[in-house]
Amino acid sequence: METRDVDPNRDVGSILHDEAAIQSRLDVLAREITEDYRGRSPFTVLTILHGGMIFMADLLRRVPLPLQMESLQVSSYHGEKESSGQVTFHQNLPDLRDQHILIVDDILDTGRTLHAIRSRFEEELQPASVRICVLLQKRKPRAVEVTAEYVGFEIDDEFVIGYGLDFQGRYRNLPYIGVLHADHTP
Ligand code: IMP
Ligand code: MG
Repeated sequence: METRDVDPNRDVGSILHDEAAIQSRLDVLAREITEDYRGRSPFTVLTILHGGMIFMADLLRRVPLPLQMESLQVSSYHGEKESSGQVTFHQNLPDLRDQHILIVDDILDTGRTLHAIRSRFEEELQPASVRICVLLQKRKPRAVEVTAEYVGFEIDDEFVIGYGLDFQGRYRNLPYIGVLHADHTP
């Protein structure tokens, strides 16, 4: 593992959405969620680790409703830029029977991850409702049918990093969303 600092000139090809743009989009998204979930109780927000963490933390501080937080670790990537198609659950599902569940994740790409998670909750537990909120959605056909009810930004089909999104485990802590520098392309 390299020890040098993250260098925006070397690591980030271009910035897609800066901090201010993300924060003002979150204001709007949080207002929508607050209106929709007012009176829907019990309400649990389920974050998909690790990609959804930073988005969830900023989003939920803008949602003044009674809610519980849960998380679930899954992986489908294994360090490459392409989804493997295999979704691995690293833990059992939290028992969210009868809950209104809002799944929060970083990105809808092929859709396999969120499809697998939503299906398992719907089939194995009987939640009151399940909806999906993603920070980003790629403009491309999904490999499986899955729709996010709440979307921060639509983006082109490029590999992005920052604000929770990683490349080989790095860059999640960038405060903005950027396109990975072309030099990283295999
Ligand atoms: P899926 O292809 O929709 O199943 O997405 C699987 C996961 O791949 C997402 O939850 C992200 O963690 C990761 N992913 C997909 N596209 C990107 C990207 O452009 N940058 C970083 N991670 C990505
Ligand atoms: Mg992820």
